[in-house]
Amino acid sequence: MEIINIKDTSNKLYYVGGVVRDELLGIESFDIDMTYEGNAIEFVQNNLQNLQNFEILQINEPFGTVRVKTDGREVDIASTREEVYEKKGHLPSVTKIGCSLKEDAMRRDFTINALYKSAVSGEIIDLTGGLDDLKNKTIRVLHDGSFIDDPTRIIRGLKFSIRFGFDLDEHTKKLQENYLKNINYDMCCKRVKKELIETFNLNSQSAFEKFIRQKIYKLVTEKDVSLPQENIEELIKKYPVENVWLVYAGCIGDLSRLPLTKNEQKILDDFNATGELKNDFEIYKAFEKVSRETVLLYGILKDKSAAERYLEILSRIKIEISGEDLLKLGLKPSKKFSEIFDYVLLKKLENPELSKEDEINIVRGII
Ligand code: CTP
Repeated sequence: MEIINIKDTSNKLYYVGGVVRDELLGIESFDIDMTYEGNAIEFVQNNLQNLQNFEILQINEPFGTVRVKTDGREVDIASTREEVYEKKGHLPSVTKIGCSLKEDAMRRDFTINALYKSAVSGEIIDLTGGLDDLKNKTIRVLHDGSFIDDPTRIIRGLKFSIRFGFDLDEHTKKLQENYLKNINYDMCCKRVKKELIETFNLNSQSAFEKFIRQKIYKLVTEKDVSLPQENIEELIKKYPVENVWLVYAGCIGDLSRLPLTKNEQKILDDFNATGELKNDFEIYKAFEKVSRETVLLYGILKDKSAAERYLEILSRIKIEISGEDLLKLGLKPSKKFSEIFDYVLLKKLENPELSKEDEINIVRGII
């Protein structure tokens, strides 16, 4: 993990968080977070700026953080800091820059994410029992107000428990349960969405079952949600989609609190707009122009056999004639064209073996 080759005689620069946790677990980490015990911006400007292959990308003065690029890798270097959540569930404000490592550790989410590794000696600094928790596969908050400060940590706890096969410690579980019985909905839903994406993109049925059974979904909606019968993980393995998370999240039903993109909203709207599908033609017309995520949601929540019939068989059937073929047959462009295409489609769904010539003959038969 030796990213920055420096002569830091003060020995106050550390790797921290996920990168230390993952190295101890023998897992590759992509994000590299470092912290400087003191003011990171001044430290970087005074000591690192002139190194070869080193570049400052961005300085965030109020948070005391600096993003740098070193040997082609981007690294965030933060000042040790204390924070206070003035508005619970929103970004905290910094109350002190340059505090002790212990104070910096205490503002974090879980003990396993509050381990530090000296950038010079490689020594691991464990101020909160994170090493024992890593060994015992335990996720433990650092103080009783952790979920009140930042409820997204409940979803993060689920994410880490699934990713590493860990369990929440009993007291942390109790704090989670208590919070979920008394949620403050004035929270930053952008962060909730980010954590839902990272959790559900793991495509884990067991994560989703915990999400429902432990009522973590209450962070998203006040309504009750039950566990669908279908195994979503298996369905997605069989029919891969780009927005895996949205297939899971769509099962919550009410996502009105989340800031969705236009495309995400369309996936949900298309699903809501699709009623009962009685035959192949209705199935085909309902699904031909929607995303596969919509089809899967329909399969999970409404009618599995219709969704599978489309994905396995109907989606492979295409009519071959085009508008140009109709013009060649002497037809003038009009609304009638789409009726003709639908009629040919109906026939082709009955008999997928029809050739283009057969399709043209069908058109000849009706004009
Ligand atoms: N952190 C926190 N509370 C949060 C988010 C982050 O205390 N709601 C702290 C944790 O110490 C975490 C670090 O900030 O380790 C970096 O956050 P992030 O990059 O989101 O998580 P990682 O632990 O690096 O995990 P991942 O592997 O998912 O990137």
